[in-house]
Amino acid sequence: MTYRQIGIVGSGRVARALGLALARFSDKPLLLWGRSDDRAREAIATIGRATAASDVAEVPERCDLIAIAVSDDALGSLVTSMAPSIGAASPFIFHVSGRSGAAILDPLREAGATTAAIHPAMTFTGDAAREVERMAGAWFAITGSSDEAVKRAGEVVDMLGGRTTQIAERHRALYHAALCHAANHLVTLLDGAFDMLDMAGADNPRELVAPLVRAALENSLVEGFSALSGPLLRGDARTVQEHLRALERECPRQLEPYQDMARATIATLRRTGVEPDTRLRALLGADAHAKGRP
Ligand SMILES: NC(=O)c1ccc[n+]([C@@H]2O[C@H](COP(=O)([O-])OP(=O)(O)OC[C@H]3O[C@@H](n4cnc5c(N)ncnc54)[C@H](OP(=O)(O)O)[C@@H]3O)[C@@H](O)[C@H]2O)c1
Repeated sequence: MTYRQIGIVGSGRVARALGLALARFSDKPLLLWGRSDDRAREAIATIGRATAASDVAEVPERCDLIAIAVSDDALGSLVTSMAPSIGAASPFIFHVSGRSGAAILDPLREAGATTAAIHPAMTFTGDAAREVERMAGAWFAITGSSDEAVKRAGEVVDMLGGRTTQIAERHRALYHAALCHAANHLVTLLDGAFDMLDMAGADNPRELVAPLVRAALENSLVEGFSALSGPLLRGDARTVQEHLRALERECPRQLEPYQDMARATIATLRRTGVEPDTRLRALLGADAHAKGRP
């Protein structure tokens, strides 16, 4: 499937990877708009087969497939400024923000475009070529403004080599919170562990935990919460007490995150029908903390 001209709005990490992946499906060189000329030039150099739009309005005027990849908070105002320029040949326009569904694109839909949200459940850190490879096989969450939009979104995901799942408009924020929790908070969690190991004098914290963390991650992806092991599951209250004392003494900045994760683990144990040791609950103040929560 090819398009007359594919447009990209944005010049950041996702815009570059998407541009690189989609350029070969565009009969004319891809048309890219970025608010900063320098960043737009860099993005065009990464993509190769692309030219710069002088104004964001040029993209909906000329393109029949448009990806909007800007900061979440900039999306609404950009959509409003693009709407009056929708061409007669009703383009398919999607954004890649996790947080929003298709409703944020309503000004474009009302002006004649077909609209959807297509969120890649993948992390983009600036290595566009690698990220194009990673998108192949990744999942993309689609929220379409119509059945036709869902179908068009599926075609775009096919072009990227990905797989689709649909998320309802009202659940987009929760969906995105889940992904941030899994991917972003995981990075913070591991950084906390590296910090503690550093303070404990370990030579190479990352190497030390790598086999353990990989095994725990693999087990958890297959078995869910049954993959849990450790002192909270066993009810070893004295061990946890020593952890808390050591953290307070040697690495106090990690005490609160440790307590929060331990409390979350206890709450999940209870939810799955395992009644955690009462000494552990008292030690972590888990009961007081859970009060008032459903
Ligand atoms: N990074 C990820 O892992 C990831 C994964 C999935 C989806 N996403 C989504 O992809 C979208 C882009 O994220 P990113 O990671 O590519 O961010 P990024 O690298 O920071 O790029 C953000 C882009 O938005 C532009 N921008 C910011 N404010 C603007 C404004 N007021 N008007 C016009 N343009 C503006 C920036 O322009 P300047 O270059 O001039 O600052 C830049 O081109 C977001 O919706 C994000 O949720 C990101």
